[in-house]
Amino acid sequence: MKSKQFLSYILPITKTITSQYSGTLEITWHNGKKHLNSKNANYSYGSLQNILKFGIEQIALQKVNSILVLGMGGGSVIETLRNDFNYTKSITAVEIDPVIIEIAATEFGISKNEHLKIHCLDALDFVKTDNEHYDVIIIDLFIDLSVPNQFLSESFWNHVLRLKSSKGDIIFNAAVNDSKSKTIQQLIGYLKTKIYKVNVFENVNNTNTLIILKSL
Ligand SMILES: C[S@@+](CC[C@H](N)C(=O)[O-])C[C@H]1O[C@@H](n2cnc3c(N)ncnc32)[C@H](O)[C@@H]1O
Repeated sequence: MKSKQFLSYILPITKTITSQYSGTLEITWHNGKKHLNSKNANYSYGSLQNILKFGIEQIALQKVNSILVLGMGGGSVIETLRNDFNYTKSITAVEIDPVIIEIAATEFGISKNEHLKIHCLDALDFVKTDNEHYDVIIIDLFIDLSVPNQFLSESFWNHVLRLKSSKGDIIFNAAVNDSKSKTIQQLIGYLKTKIYKVNVFENVNNTNTLIILKSL
């Protein structure tokens, strides 16, 4: 075991980095694992990773050839897909924050390669202009504890639905606790008119609302 990893069982070791989008970011060793946190939220490799893992367990990955991740963060869902689900095919990741893309590479070993494309872009601009189709779309767009309003709008979701392959599924990390619950309920009502099945999981890991959308 590396010494930093060992020491982290006794005391948290933290490095802080300032980002124009998320304010102060922290890279913290906790119980032998490195996490990426914003001021109030775990962004990557902590509870967030477990929440998205629960989401992936709800879908069948066997026939999936392409995955789009909106909100790459430190890349923990990419690690989960590769290591826990042995998914080796294409992943396209979109992240607005160049500081976080750098952290993903230097702190967590997540950088572009033959099977991983990384776009440093606003996810809204990406979905408006992209023309690929994806078998799974994972939407995990937060600034600290909050999903920016534009990602709860029908126009954003119309673009997402356009990018989904005909049998594609979507995992949406919609909220922490009850934040924006009225808007989310309205969005769920809208999505139910557009896609075969909408499953809502509340209090995943005691905190998050996860929505799984399935095509026929
Ligand atoms: C909870 S973290 C994502 C964690 C990541 N899915 C993982 O598996 O480790 C949320 C991310 O959304 C990104 N984000 C927020 N607004 C965005 C936007 N408009 N476009 C793209 N990324 C955005 C943040 O910079 C942050 O890295």
